[in-house]
Amino acid sequence: MKKFIERALERLSKLDEEQVRSLINHLGNENDLLSVVFESMTDGLVVLGAEHEIMLYNKSAERLLPFEHEEIHEKKLWETLSDREIADFFEERLLNQDRVYDKQFTLDSSGVIRILSCSIMPLVRSGKALGNLVHIEDVTEKRSREARLRRAESLASLTTLAAGVAHEIKNPLGSIGIHIQLIQKAVNTKGSPDKESISKYLEIIMEEIDRLNGIVVDFLFAVRPINADLERRSLNSLVHDVVDFIQFELKEAGIEVEERYDESIPDLDLDEKYMKQALLNIIKNAIAAMPEGGMLRIVTDTGSSDVVLRISDTGVGIDEENLGKIFEPYFTTKEFGSGLGLTVVYKIVKEHGGEISVTSREGEGATFALSFPIPESERKLIEWEENKV
Ligand SMILES: Nc1ncnc2c1ncn2[C@@H]1O[C@H](COP(=O)(O)OP(=O)(O)OP(=O)(O)O)[C@@H](O)[C@H]1O
Ligand SMILES: [Mg+2]
Repeated sequence: MKKFIERALERLSKLDEEQVRSLINHLGNENDLLSVVFESMTDGLVVLGAEHEIMLYNKSAERLLPFEHEEIHEKKLWETLSDREIADFFEERLLNQDRVYDKQFTLDSSGVIRILSCSIMPLVRSGKALGNLVHIEDVTEKRSREARLRRAESLASLTTLAAGVAHEIKNPLGSIGIHIQLIQKAVNTKGSPDKESISKYLEIIMEEIDRLNGIVVDFLFAVRPINADLERRSLNSLVHDVVDFIQFELKEAGIEVEERYDESIPDLDLDEKYMKQALLNIIKNAIAAMPEGGMLRIVTDTGSSDVVLRISDTGVGIDEENLGKIFEPYFTTKEFGSGLGLTVVYKIVKEHGGEISVTSREGEGATFALSFPIPESERKLIEWEENKV
């Protein structure tokens, strides 16, 4: 309670009529202001009492939630809703006294599809639970904007990938054409055809067909949609598992490993299989970049909304010209590289809603930084715990 009201209450018997009138006026004005703010919010808010009964709600809540009855005041929230799924959700979670963040529902209100995000936060005063605050947000537009962005991004990368394939198949196709012409010539020469040359040309054609096949297989692997199976898990232990898995190769290559994990990072939504593949691709590149041995440094770190994983090596580094190309499909400086390793890494990181960047200088090693978003619910918990202290 505001200090001056407390003071006024203590002195209530001593206040004259004018002072009481001014106090009530003041409270009335403040209440009006709060009501205006409450009613003009675009998000829906419902205040529930200790028995989950509706005490207060704003116009947006009325517009967003599928209320069944006209009169909902004092009724339990779940008894007023016409949508069974949402009603069951509130009944179960409120009775369990759960704190919920961003549970999403799809609603079909007379042909218009809307996505609602619902959160439940306990209202606590001096350590006692008074009830709950229910927050409802219409996230339909936000979700479709995100989907549009993802589609545009994957179209753009598909275009570069397709351009890469076109470039890659030009050489083998050209070579096949030339050797077919040579065979035609050999067949058409007077006298008996030069069987030896013909069989050599055919062999080359077969090799080129194999190469074409390899390009198509790699291409399909790179464009295949990933069906990431995201599960809440620890990034630190996943990374450590990969390092463990490849430690023999690292040792053989004379590479020392330093792992520094931030133990306070929250669990993330990760697909174990794909993440391990991405990390292996990065670490294998690092091994290839340190033919004389060196140091592989792995560090995790947490910010307020992202977790960052840095993988650094002390290898040959990447010159400025190539730095912008390494994620492009088919870019490779290796004799037998496919140039798809980092393309796949990029795709996997994006699939996790993350970002990847690289810093490097020729001769001074390279650092790959991967950042991943902290799931909203884990974020909320951190903030809440921070507030407690
Ligand atoms: N840690 C690194 N240090 C120096 N150069 C790197 C590093 N990682 C990647 N590169 C450069 O980026 C290029 C592309 O890497 P990417 O993994 O996509 O393909 P690749 O390693 O050449 O082939 P593949 O992964 O199919 O064996 C590499 O050829 C190399 O020139
Ligand atoms: Mg590679």
